[in-house]
Amino acid sequence: MKKVGVVGCGLMGHGIVQVAAQAGFDVVAVEAEQGFLDKGLGRIRKSLDKLAAKAVEKGKKSAEDAKSDADGAFGRIHGTVDKSDLADCDLVVEAIVENLDVKKALYAELGGICKPETILASNTSSFPIAEMGEASGRPENMVGLHFFNPVQLMKLVEVVRTDATSDDSFAKARAFGEAVGKVPVGCKDTPGFVVNRLLVPYMVQSLLMLERGDATKQDIDAAMQFGCGHPMGPITLTDYVGLDTTLSILQGWCERYPDEPAFAIPAILEQKVSEGKLGRKTGEGFYKWDGDKKA
Ligand code: CAA
Ligand code: NAD
Repeated sequence: MKKVGVVGCGLMGHGIVQVAAQAGFDVVAVEAEQGFLDKGLGRIRKSLDKLAAKAVEKGKKSAEDAKSDADGAFGRIHGTVDKSDLADCDLVVEAIVENLDVKKALYAELGGICKPETILASNTSSFPIAEMGEASGRPENMVGLHFFNPVQLMKLVEVVRTDATSDDSFAKARAFGEAVGKVPVGCKDTPGFVVNRLLVPYMVQSLLMLERGDATKQDIDAAMQFGCGHPMGPITLTDYVGLDTTLSILQGWCERYPDEPAFAIPAILEQKVSEGKLGRKTGEGFYKWDGDKKA
């Protein structure tokens, strides 16, 4: 595998582009509009520079080597708004908005654009990988490659196989996960795979607590940070993931599994999304944000 495409260069996509380029792959980064592409590439440049500065600070690299590695990785990225540039990619990872209809339309297009052996991988948080494989017309080439936010720092990737995924596609997707420095775990095509099936209901419960006024958001977060050793509390984490993405995950699950009590939509979440307060990415969610840090 030499050439990798990534569709969507938002919160997750820009990180996937970056780790693939850092691992030596040629990467085609596709966005819907030039403005979004420029923003994604800008974030990658900033992150590469930050990691380079850290490597120098820790004595892992000379300043010259760190800059040359960061420039080299950035140079392997070809940004485009033209999906036909994905035609000769060995793997295409999709990280577009969490909307199954929009994803299926993209997979139908990719099925017509990519060479027959291209492996197609979705970074979806919650939707069935099998339905995307069907839409692409090549279900044996379809896997889930579920990275975690922030991709540059989180070590896990879930590699999801459907009943139709071929052994070869699964093995190659897993090898890609390892090549970009992640710990791959295999999962079946179930709602939320492993992590989100556990994590999202926990986030929901924290928002329902907030709604009931059981404790303040700061105290709920501090409780899980200092009581359970989590790096951030669940309400900060919801801001971090994106309130729109969290809501889309829950809407999809509640529609498909109406009798599952762990899947519920807190009114407070719907309210914030309707106000355009989507979390860290818009500068306000449950908290106010100044870039990567809470304001
Ligand atoms: N690129 C480069 N550097 C980055 C970076 C990035 N994208 N993001 C953060 N950093 C840097 C920071 O700038 C910081 O650098 P300095 O030390 O120089 O200040 C350093 O990395 C550490 O970051 P923080 O200071 O913010 O400190 P931290 O130790 O708290 O680490 C964190 C941040 C790794 C995000 C940690 O808080 C964490 O693990 N949080 C939980 C994240 C999590 O649970 N993610 C999963 C979300 S769920 C999901 O992804 C699945 C889904 O489908 C929804
Ligand atoms: P985001 O809104 O930050 O980014 C999505 C990007 O996709 C946007 O920049 C948008 O312009 C682009 N896009 C939308 N439709 C497109 C199309 N047809 N062609 C090209 N580009 C298109 O969202 P995100 O948080 O990066 O989430 C992306 C995917 O990753 C979702 O499936 C989400 O569930 C999943 N995911 C998110 C997280 C998280 O913590 N946010 C973690 C793991 C997985």
